[in-house]
Amino acid sequence: MTGAGRPEVPRELRPQLSALRDLAVDLAIGAGELVRAGRREAVSDRVGTKSSVTDVVTIMDRASEDYLRRRLDAERPGDAVLGEEAGIERSAAAQPQVNPITWVVDPIDGTVNYLYGRPEYAVSVAAVLGDPTRPGAWRPVAGAVANPETGQVYHAYDGGGAFLRDHQRTGDASGDRRLACTTVTELSLALLATGFGYAAEVRREQALALVDILPAVRDIRRGGSAALDLCTVASGVVDAYAERGVHVWDVAAGWLIATESGAHVATWDSGPERPVGIVAAAPSILPGLRDLVQDAYLRARRDPPRG
Ligand code: IPD
Repeated sequence: MTGAGRPEVPRELRPQLSALRDLAVDLAIGAGELVRAGRREAVSDRVGTKSSVTDVVTIMDRASEDYLRRRLDAERPGDAVLGEEAGIERSAAAQPQVNPITWVVDPIDGTVNYLYGRPEYAVSVAAVLGDPTRPGAWRPVAGAVANPETGQVYHAYDGGGAFLRDHQRTGDASGDRRLACTTVTELSLALLATGFGYAAEVRREQALALVDILPAVRDIRRGGSAALDLCTVASGVVDAYAERGVHVWDVAAGWLIATESGAHVATWDSGPERPVGIVAAAPSILPGLRDLVQDAYLRARRDPPRG
């Protein structure tokens, strides 16, 4: 990961990174169990909406974030927490200069899948340095993405490699398998994961950009969770991921997991009033993919569809 404003990892923080990762794993599993157990009640009749009618929030999004905040308050009282539902909060005990960590949490990433009973959703927990509210000014140093339906937990800390904990598959006591992204060298052979925003006008632009992107790659997959999309780049289940308009909580943990698998992750400029776009891929195809996606979005904005 590169970028002028991104903070370096202080040497004195290094010995703590594996413990931060362990906490992220524990939190993501704990919140995931809560979310899975509460699904029936959550999807019955108390589903609200946020930015648009398709942008849902369930009582379990809020319960999961409350759980994560309660545990972090108890176990890391000096740190700040930024979550999808309640924004950024710093406890009274926080001393940002001494303790520069912000926990960036997505209580359910893939809420629409959760609503429909599809298994591609996750709880994402990341420990981040810098200011996660400013694009390019933060760096994830430890994180975990847990899929409560499959029992799989992706995790990483800076410099420690990326791993998948999957007891069912490995049969191994630790259950951890080291991850490596694919080594694809041609963009035309890359299987590309992507996602779409909630606002109709954003989706129109995303659909138009696909007119240029789809013919240039092997195929497209839309899983429904940006956090898991980045983890599938790490595990080699897809070659690449690109999306415009994700939020920091969608991608903070997955960004680190993809990077630690050997993939490169970068942002692209999608216009002054636009949220940043993200691309993740095997290093050899990343520059070409970034150009392709950035140009496709520029064209989509220049020649908007009629109607
Ligand atoms: C969404 C998912 C989806 C992505 C959207 C995100 P949410 O997060 O990650 O895959 O395409 O951009 O907003 O709303 O389910 O937490």
